[in-house]
Amino acid sequence: MKFCILMGSPRKNGNTIELLKPFIEELTINNIQYDLIWLQDKQIEPCTACRNCQKDWTIFGCQYSDDMQKIFDKVLASDVIVLATPIYSWYCTPPMKSMLDRLVYGMNKFYGEKKGPSLWSNKKIP
Ligand SMILES: Cc1cc2nc3c(=O)[nH]c(=O)nc-3n(C[C@H](O)[C@H](O)[C@H](O)COP(=O)(O)O)c2cc1C
Repeated sequence: MKFCILMGSPRKNGNTIELLKPFIEELTINNIQYDLIWLQDKQIEPCTACRNCQKDWTIFGCQYSDDMQKIFDKVLASDVIVLATPIYSWYCTPPMKSMLDRLVYGMNKFYGEKKGPSLWSNKKIP
């Protein structure tokens, strides 16, 4: 069992990481592997709806060579994905939004000429 925690807060000592700390402690106590990815520290370009990711159903397939490929790989290798974000103007933070747009399209090959698979089916997003 592996967890991937995608952290949307820019603040290293903010409220979101405080809320996450007991959760991470439980993972550690239970010997559960996890990655904690601070999205603000990553280069994540916004999606441009080019649909390049819909051409090959076996790979991420995004046109950009930024940090999203590594995040995609980590998510794909995880069983549980945790989205941890403060609310900014009634939604998640900008890096979380950019990441989600890219991930939802890259993972779900539903948006091309034919409907393809979901690469993250059976993963849990509590
Ligand atoms: C630009 C900005 C927009 C925000 N918008 C909302 C909002 O719409 N609703 C809300 O309840 N809190 C809002 N907040 C408050 C944050 O969600 C809250 O302070 C949060 O705990 C910050 O998390 P952090 O300490 O991990 O940065 C906003 C904060 C900022 C900086």
